[in-house]
Order: sequence, then C-alpha cells, then structure tokens
Amino acid sequence: RQWTPKPGPLAGRHALVTSGPTHEPIDPVRYIANRSSGRQGHAIAAALAALGARVTLIAGPVTVPDPLGVSVVKVETAAQMLSAVQVALPADIAVLAAAVADWRVAEPQVGKIKKQPGAEVPALRLIPNPDILATLSQPGPARPRLVIGFAAETDDVIAHAIAKRLRKGCDWLIANDVSPASGVMGGAENEVHLITAAGVEDWPRLPKDAVAARLAARILQELTGETP
Ligand code: CTP
Ligand code: CA
Repeated sequence: RQWTPKPGPLAGRHALVTSGPTHEPIDPVRYIANRSSGRQGHAIAAALAALGARVTLIAGPVTVPDPLGVSVVKVETAAQMLSAVQVALPADIAVLAAAVADWRVAEPQVGKIKKQPGAEVPALRLIPNPDILATLSQPGPARPRLVIGFAAETDDVIAHAIAKRLRKGCDWLIANDVSPASGVMGGAENEVHLITAAGVEDWPRLPKDAVAARLAARILQELTGETP
C-alpha cells in the first residue's frame, strides 16, 4: 500500500524500518523464531511518518496493527527481510528494530516431519542467516545516511552495545535490557540507552510510543538541525 506522506520536517526523506521477529521454517507446520511483539519498531515507523518522512516498514510476523501512513512489506524469514530491505533502497534513514533469527534450518522439509515409533528425535542442522544491519552499514553509495540498530541484551547491556555498534558499523545503536526482570519484552514501555560515536545517553523508562517520538526527534535533529 502506498500512502501520501504528511507534510512535516522530514518531508522528502525516505526511512526504512524493520520490525518484529523472523520465522525460519523447519517444515510446513513448524518454525524457529525470536520473541518480539513489533511494538517498538512499529511505533518508530509511525513516529517518523508523523514527522513527514516516507516510511517503508518491513515487518516480520506480528499481531500489532499496521501503522497508518506507512507502506508495509510483510516478510517471514531473514532472507526475505534482507531482500525487502534491498528492494526498498535508497533510503536516508534506516532503523533496524527487527529481532532477526541468527540461524535458519539448513534443510527445511517440504513435508511435515512425522513422529516415528521408536525413532530418534530429529536433529536440526542450523546455518547462519545474513546480518541485515551489518550488510546495510557497509560503506558504499547505497548506504543510508543514518543507520540505526538495536541491541536487546540481558547482561552487561552497555558494554555489549558499545562493542556491537562498532562490530556492525552502524551509526547509532539503541540498547535495552530485555532480561525478564526488566519487564519490557512485549510490554508497553521501554528503557533504552542511545549509543553514538559521542557516547552513551540513558533515556528514562517511557511508553514505547514516547521512545519512538524521542528517537524520531533525534533523527530529525541529526539530519536537519531542527527540532520538531
Ligand atoms: N540484525 C540483523 N540481521 C541479523 C541479526 C541482527 O539485521 N541477522 C540486527 C537487529 O535488527 C538489530 C541488531 O542487528 O538491529 C542487533 O541484533 P542482535 O541480535 O542484538 O545482534 P547480533 O549481532 O545477532 O548478536 P547476538 O549474538 O547478541 O544475538
Ligand atoms: Ca542476534
């Protein structure tokens, strides 16, 4: 679906956002997946559209509704997500919030795997998925001006996130603590840290919509020097 962008300070800019999990098939009825509601990524797509950006949201399987005012491309696997990202380029801004499965099953079965009496439990051979964020962050003419990744961590959140920003080659990384005690996974609020080349900003615990609005405002400031 194509939507006419609203007027706003990001008018004329294209933002690409990934959100939700990926599903990697084992057979027609089973898959491997990450835990992700898509709430934060979808909110970011909506917040960028609210500032006038043309937004392409590439979404894995989620139950949250499509945000209004953005074009949504629905995908299932990491490989499909990477292709959809490449088709959507060029973009000025990329926010990769999806929880991409790191591995996929090497040989997904065409037919349903059946239990056989007395047979062994099937062993799944996994192979690595492409890293969409690292691929998009590589220098070159197609690289978006601002590439932003996420890091969901359970321990040493900041240290892992600082290392991850450098490893991936993205400009900014948004880190959050997803340990069960934090309660943010699948919830309505998030508590994040923005990691840039300049350092680490600790943001307060906020509704996911407010985290998205604050990030969109930071993006606007970075690209234009304006505040919304
Ligand atoms: N990501 C991606 N493609 C992948 C894996 C991750 O684009 N195959 C992106 C995510 O969307 C996120 C960022 O990379 O923006 C970090 O994801 P994360 O899973 O935290 O990083 P990994 O490098 O996979 O490290 P880890 O071993 O901690 O899972
Ligand atoms: Ca990962």
